[in-house]
Amino acid sequence: MAVPYAAPMRGWNPATSGEAPVSTVRPLPSAPGGRAVVAGWGIALPERVVTNAELAQRVDTNDAWIVERTGIRERRVAGPGETTVSMAIESGAAAIKSADLSPADIGCCIVATCTPEQPIPATASFVQDGLGLHCGAFDLDAACAGFVYGLVVASGLLATGAIDAVLLVGSETLSRVTDPDDRSTCVLFGDGAGAAVLVPESLGPAGHRRQDGAEGAGLLAWDLGCDGSAASLLAVPAGGSRLPTSAQTLADGSHWMKMEGQEVFRRAVRAIVESAGVTLSQAGFDASDVDLFVPHQANARIIDAAANRLGIPAERTFVNIDRYGNTSAASIPIALAEAADSGRLRPGDLVLLSGFGAGMSWASALLRW
Ligand code: ACO
Repeated sequence: MAVPYAAPMRGWNPATSGEAPVSTVRPLPSAPGGRAVVAGWGIALPERVVTNAELAQRVDTNDAWIVERTGIRERRVAGPGETTVSMAIESGAAAIKSADLSPADIGCCIVATCTPEQPIPATASFVQDGLGLHCGAFDLDAACAGFVYGLVVASGLLATGAIDAVLLVGSETLSRVTDPDDRSTCVLFGDGAGAAVLVPESLGPAGHRRQDGAEGAGLLAWDLGCDGSAASLLAVPAGGSRLPTSAQTLADGSHWMKMEGQEVFRRAVRAIVESAGVTLSQAGFDASDVDLFVPHQANARIIDAAANRLGIPAERTFVNIDRYGNTSAASIPIALAEAADSGRLRPGDLVLLSGFGAGMSWASALLRW
């Protein structure tokens, strides 16, 4: 029945390789309408706040340990009526409104999630219907790297010139796949959603446009990576075709997320540093040029270690993990929206995004705001 997955390690491994990941990606040429720019954004968060003290009533943990080892003080947890779709719709509607567009203007909808509404159909189908969109819609699962993967896909779609706007949403209800009795994971994760509307630069907000013919705003460079040989380090083993749901899988707790935290930590730091470095060098920049680093919010120590190695100081690194924990594909768009709303992003700023998670997959993108 249940066959534990133990694929041999092979290929590039960010934990052991001494080399930068091999990237075959070249700097993005400007598409006919210009590069993809973020024209609007929105977030949705469950109302319920769960503090470290509340978790300590159920499992053997304490606020001091969680804060010191992760930087997390509280997280949001979805209530009965809140799901991946409901938060995706709320954040998506806010993003469309903030872009000053209507649902009819959206040419494609991408939902990045590793906690879908249900196995079939795609979460994006419900989001398309809920928002009243008239366009294609699909899911993208690259876990915590999902939003940055989606950014690259959206940019490619816009570069065809066939559509003028993409709605990209990262939405997760990780509380529904996290074992409430496993102290090594239940303290880490939270629920939420963040969305962005991407348009070609020529259709973007006027403030994004350069009048002098110099390089404009948008996605300048990116790096996507995956080391599937390490997939078992972070997984929900049951509920798919390899291990369908049964009384046994329910009894085993195989529907809960399993994670080898220390090994994931080591790989996360290495992959973020190398992937972000590759992305910067593709565009001809280095860390000193970055105005704001918006990393995936997995653990404050991962963020500190990666930013230190990249040479990006704390004042140019965006952190909100203390309030939300790890929201996987939602973490970067929530952080980006909070950075924009709090005035930490000005037109022309260089913004570096980098995510790492289950797969193991990672992704970085360099945007000129
Ligand atoms: N409270 C108190 N003690 C705890 C807790 C807790 N919540 N969790 C673990 N411990 C204990 C362990 O049992 C262990 O005790 P022992 O020494 O008696 O065995 C001790 O603390 C140290 O455990 P470690 O696992 O070594 O702790 P570490 O410092 O590595 O922190 C953590 C664990 C926070 C999970 C860290 O490894 C981490 O953040 N890993 C990365 C997770 C991540 O980034 N995931 C990203 C992807 S998520 C996605 O893709 C959906």
